[in-house]
Amino acid sequence: MMARQAGISFTFSMGIAAMLLLVTACRQEPVEPLPSDLMPAHLAAVPIPADNPLTPAKVDLGRRLFYDKRLSSQGTVSCASCHRQDLSFSDAPNQVSRGVNNALGQRNAPSLINVAYRPHYFWDGRAATLEDQAMAAFLSSVEMDADTMAVSALLRSGVYRDAWRAAFSDTAVSMRRAMMAIASFERTIVSANSRYDQYVLGNKAALSEQERRGMNLFFSSRSMCGACHGGQDFTNDQFQNIGLFNHYFDRGRYNVTKNMADDGLFKTPSLRNVALTPPYMASGDSDKGPLTTLEQVVEHYNDGGTPFSNKDRRVKKLGLSKAEVADLVAFMKALTDSSVLTRREWSAP
Ligand code: HEC
Ligand code: HEC
Repeated sequence: MMARQAGISFTFSMGIAAMLLLVTACRQEPVEPLPSDLMPAHLAAVPIPADNPLTPAKVDLGRRLFYDKRLSSQGTVSCASCHRQDLSFSDAPNQVSRGVNNALGQRNAPSLINVAYRPHYFWDGRAATLEDQAMAAFLSSVEMDADTMAVSALLRSGVYRDAWRAAFSDTAVSMRRAMMAIASFERTIVSANSRYDQYVLGNKAALSEQERRGMNLFFSSRSMCGACHGGQDFTNDQFQNIGLFNHYFDRGRYNVTKNMADDGLFKTPSLRNVALTPPYMASGDSDKGPLTTLEQVVEHYNDGGTPFSNKDRRVKKLGLSKAEVADLVAFMKALTDSSVLTRREWSAP
């Protein structure tokens, strides 16, 4: 495990007060790029690795790199091609994404909001840090298929020279440093302004009666949803099988551990902004066809899933009524924070 030092925590505030606070905070604290309303107090401080401190210059550079298609071999694909801000940094509604040369990947692109909090990355958890994850996407033949010589030349050129020096205080270019900058930018993508968050912060009117019924059911031992989708981002960050297939061609966590007990296990995804990122699941698919709506997902759980050797015991016939299914869906829709979609700090520079 990488040593992590605590990040920065701020009080939650919004609107004009927050904007003023942001302006003064930037003047007095030059190393602090997170506006206060991006770092609300009801979330844990963003974990920042000791070997990649977050600075405004690095975040700035990372943002430019995240949106730069010249990082891919054909100059056609950037990180943002598959992680689009207007889609909560996902690739909805594509089941799998297309990289360079229109190469098709195998898995559904997850949203990147609050990704800094995850202890491992990819559906099978094969990357331990955001820096490693970014490097994998950058080099992957079905994603960016980067030509590192060409990218080095670009980073050394006038296009990036000043931004690079500002971020790293010298001009030594490395792919590792480029990924450190991208990871720093990703760590600023913090979302916590859904109506559910407002409810948690004391505004009881933020959720309708139906959404509150859905919330109670979600966190109940009857549905067991909260057992896996718990915590501030609605994920336990563990690997489970939920019975989508009776045979897994993509074996998930097994690919990492080679342990049969991990066959068909995938990381529990966060449910923040889940309504914006169909289709669902690592494959976007199931034995019964693609899961393109939250209703279909809840019906999947309600049916108890397809029998499979490693299916989690908590996934079983639930006996939920039509109204209860609708309540759960309504609750998940209240996890939408649409401010993410337009926040300028995260848009193409
Ligand atoms: C061609 C589409 C595509 C491109 C380009 C792409 N990604 Fe992804 N990204 C995906 C897919 C698909 C996954 C899931 C893959 C898996 O789990 O094996 C993913 C997963 C991730 C994750 C893991 C999230 C989690 O919760 O586990 C992060 C972080 C991420 N991408 C960031 C990036 C960055 C940074 C770049 C640019 C360097 C990038 N991606 C480029 C499609 C893409
Ligand atoms: C045993 C743990 C577990 C339980 C219980 C559970 N989930 Fe999940 N959930 C997961 C895992 C793991 C995935 C991803 C599975 C995959 O891709 O193969 C997932 C995926 C999802 C997705 C898709 C999200 C996305 O972005 O693709 C939704 C929505 C969801 N669950 C909602 C629920 C609801 C609602 C309940 C309760 C009825 C529930 N889950 C119960 C572990 C669980």
